[in-house]
Amino acid sequence: MEIVICSTPEEAGEVAAARVAQVVKEAGPRAVLGVATGSSPLALYEGLTRRVEEGTLDLSEASAFALDEYVGLPAGDPNSYAATIDKTVTVPLKMNPANVHVPDGAAEDLKQACEDYEAAIKAAGGVDVQILGIGSNGHIGFNEPSSSLASRTRIKTLNERTREDNARYFASIDDVPRHCLTQGLGTIMDARAVVLVAQGEGKADAVAALAEGPVSTMCPGSILQMHRTVTVVVDEAAASKLKLREYYDVTYEHKPEWQEFDA
Ligand code: GLP
Repeated sequence: MEIVICSTPEEAGEVAAARVAQVVKEAGPRAVLGVATGSSPLALYEGLTRRVEEGTLDLSEASAFALDEYVGLPAGDPNSYAATIDKTVTVPLKMNPANVHVPDGAAEDLKQACEDYEAAIKAAGGVDVQILGIGSNGHIGFNEPSSSLASRTRIKTLNERTREDNARYFASIDDVPRHCLTQGLGTIMDARAVVLVAQGEGKADAVAALAEGPVSTMCPGSILQMHRTVTVVVDEAAASKLKLREYYDVTYEHKPEWQEFDA
């Protein structure tokens, strides 16, 4: 696991965008992105948007698969992850909406929708680079603590802490859905590369557990320790509980070649 500690959340977004852009270019025009919602990847998306606007990155033939979706929101609800991905990914990155996929949380047969989603990822050739945030309880996607480390896309019940964390987007906590569809930890682990971003003190415990704790279902993100190509980009606050932070800083200083890929 490569850990990059940046001085500010903005710098973390830029470093993460550079890494994603590098993998996308290596994958070619039909690259497949795994995309996340939440506030964590927004600066990363801004970095990618700048590259698209400058003409150094072209995602017009690329596709994307979102990690998760709420169950039970009316179609077109602005809090749905379909609407969020459209606003933060599809439109600014000038992607073809037909190539951007979100699990169907309004499907009549949710189990079938999960199987179809797995099949669609497979048919696209798998995810080249998965963008991730992390929940304060260590969840990735909506794989809450106690999730199977081998899980595939499925229906999950949202943890109360996650509902409280996400209540800021809704009128009240009562409006936050109780269920979701989410890619499983096994699905996420199939991505060829992973870039996880975390900012702020509220993520410090989760980042420490993810990178330095035991691999455990108590911190679902810790499964990434078993992946060969993971970059974790954090700001100082999110890095504050890492025991080996001095070492990680040194690691990054010896990685200036990233900039060369970022033409
Ligand atoms: C949400 C999403 C995750 C996201 C996480 C953190 O519940 N399902 O994909 O990474 O919570 O959100 P934020 O980045 O806003 O802190």
